[in-house]
Amino acid sequence: MRIILLGAPGAGKGTQAKFIMDAFDVPQISTGDMLRAAVKAGTSLGLKVKDIMTSGGLVSDEIIIDLVKERIKNDDCKNGFLFDGFPRTIPQAEALFSSGVEIDHVVEIYVEDSVIISRLGGRRVHESSGRVYHIEYNPPQSAGHDDETGEPLVHREDDQEDTVRKRLDVYHEQTEPLVGYYDSEAQSATFTRIDGVGSLEDIKNRVFDILG
Ligand code: AP5
Repeated sequence: MRIILLGAPGAGKGTQAKFIMDAFDVPQISTGDMLRAAVKAGTSLGLKVKDIMTSGGLVSDEIIIDLVKERIKNDDCKNGFLFDGFPRTIPQAEALFSSGVEIDHVVEIYVEDSVIISRLGGRRVHESSGRVYHIEYNPPQSAGHDDETGEPLVHREDDQEDTVRKRLDVYHEQTEPLVGYYDSEAQSATFTRIDGVGSLEDIKNRVFDILG
């Protein structure tokens, strides 16, 4: 199964991606996680993208398209994959389409901006695994520490309120047009918008109803 999770920053894509990976045995391909790993490792890619990510802007389409094309050649993608945070612009979606990758489901998780601003203020992440928590809505067993490794959790630099507002502007301008792109008869994937407000379990049930 090939799935795209669409939605604003903080809509809950990464949270739901973990449930989908476990249930459908497909890898999560998060371009954000891949880029953050490159920044942390100090690779030439990481050095190129660090400032733009910190400021809340988008990395260039060329970089992202190359990254994804390489990633989906891996053996673990043979039975499908889950894109989380990709595509994010019309040119990225067109590059995917023209390289012959067929998508089965596009699921948009819809959440109002005001809810997102409050969610991201409380998000904490385990950097090396990408596991996501929220200090109130999805707290770790021990405050500030990852459940599996016990390592410290971090508040992402781009989760400061000013940067979140910028990321939301960028989302509305450059990523939201993908809703019309995928919700059109020209695309074979089924497109479904779900309400992203509710418990983690409620949202999971909404997503799983679509994926079958
Ligand atoms: P990326 O890492 O992709 O960030 P994002 O899309 O902004 O998404 P987030 O990870 O912030 O949110 P999410 O929807 O996964 O929410 P989460 O599940 O964590 O990208 C970062 C940067 O990389 C970009 O700004 C850009 O610079 C660059 N980049 C990446 N991909 C790119 C691309 N394709 N093109 C160009 N540039 C690219 O949930 C959020 C919080 O809410 C958590 O605390 C969670 O616990 C909580 N939560 C989740 N669900 C619920 C719920 N139902 N109720 C209450 N709280 C909830």
